Amino acid sequence: MEILAFNASPRPKGNTSHLVSAILEGARSQGVAGKEVRLHDLNTKGCRGCLGCRKTPGICHEQDDLSPYLEAIKNCRGMVIATPIYMYRIAGQMKLLVDRFYSLYGNKEGGGYYSTVAPGKTYAIVISQGAPDPAQYERSIRYLMGMTGTGLGFEVVGKIIHANSHVSPAEKDEALLAQAYEIGQRMAK
Ligand SMILES: Cc1cc2nc3c(=O)[nH]c(=O)nc-3n(C[C@H](O)[C@H](O)[C@H](O)COP(=O)(O)O)c2cc1C
Repeated sequence: MEILAFNASPRPKGNTSHLVSAILEGARSQGVAGKEVRLHDLNTKGCRGCLGCRKTPGICHEQDDLSPYLEAIKNCRGMVIATPIYMYRIAGQMKLLVDRFYSLYGNKEGGGYYSTVAPGKTYAIVISQGAPDPAQYERSIRYLMGMTGTGLGFEVVGKIIHANSHVSPAEKDEALLAQAYEIGQRMAK
């Protein structure tokens, strides 16, 4: 599980899934294996607010299908965060994951947070949206990258905003798929 790809789309053959597959293929071309975690298929709930992780930074006390993958983040080489836009924001399946990421942060004395994830891991984000303007959901995307990537010390090596998905499906967009493949190659470094 060297590259861990969290995919929030419920559609196994949807746009997000095609882009995630291309990234993992690119990583594989460099001899690095990957695993797609389809969040919609997991029996998982959101954070239950127990705050147990404040006392044990890096450990989420909720035990469900997501638990082994939260643990796997600490040992992966790189992580992909992929989601469609639903109702002007990241899909709910992704928000459930983001809230559980709280457990990966510890409280600094005097305020602020530190990451319990070792530095040096690569990160890529994939967004698919129907709206044609790739900048439309910039704030939501910046938030997502901050919480799941840069805030935890990951090195961002790729960002795909797949816009206008109804008109131009990812599966038929050779240039976009090539971009995803190259990101996968960079993630394998
Ligand atoms: C419930 C729902 C809400 C959506 N809301 C938005 C939206 O607010 N903005 C947008 O650009 N696209 C929206 N879309 C379109 C999806 O983001 C788009 O079809 C995307 O490509 C789906 O990704 P997928 O094929 O990987 O599932 C919505 C789709 C669904 C099903």
